[in-house]
Amino acid sequence: LSPQDLSGTRVLVTLGPTREYFDPVRFWSNPSSGTMGASIAVAAWLRGADVTAICGPVSLWLPPGIHRISVTSAVEMHEAATDIWPSADVAVCTAAVADFAPKPYGETKFKKTGEPLQVEFSANPDIIAALSNTRHVRQRIIGFAAETGDLAQLAREKRERKGMDIIVANHVLTPGAGFAAPTNEVTVIDANGREESWPTLPKTEVAWRLLDWLSLL
Ligand code: C5P
Repeated sequence: LSPQDLSGTRVLVTLGPTREYFDPVRFWSNPSSGTMGASIAVAAWLRGADVTAICGPVSLWLPPGIHRISVTSAVEMHEAATDIWPSADVAVCTAAVADFAPKPYGETKFKKTGEPLQVEFSANPDIIAALSNTRHVRQRIIGFAAETGDLAQLAREKRERKGMDIIVANHVLTPGAGFAAPTNEVTVIDANGREESWPTLPKTEVAWRLLDWLSLL
């Protein structure tokens, strides 16, 4: 039997990429598949949580028992997440949110001119920062960090700066970790000073272990 240790816990998960359109047919994005977030959503649901998944454009299956909200851009994901946050106990932000959005070129497809193209970008809202700034003491925030430098040090700083209870750092350049892989290799750090580096594991197992950490906070 599934443990049901999250029975009564309302979990919000953001997952997948966001798409930032710069004309009606072209966008700026990244290769996130949403697999890590979907694994967490399913694990939490199996453990009895009431789960809402805010999904960027992904093609993945979720059990019908999970409340699914589909969004496209970072601004839409931010709006959906801040709407739901007051009625959630935990936010798990796995989405690979685009940090910048190109300024739109208007209603029609822009044409090539033979000249170099200059695109201006505006900064997108930071969803974790928004949740963190409006959190209630009982609410928990789990965030991710894709890093390329000194993973643990950067992650420790990011956890504090963004007000996360747990940060999951993955070295995006390691084979078998990160974007669109079925496995992940992560270092997990929590607000109580716990820190562990896990071997390369299926994302489903990373998800299950993370929920175990949540209950230790
Ligand atoms: O600061 P950085 O973008 O590296 O932090 C990554 C974490 O922040 C991830 O958990 C990601 O889902 C979240 N994030 C967010 N909104 C953004 C950018 C990142 O919630 N605009």
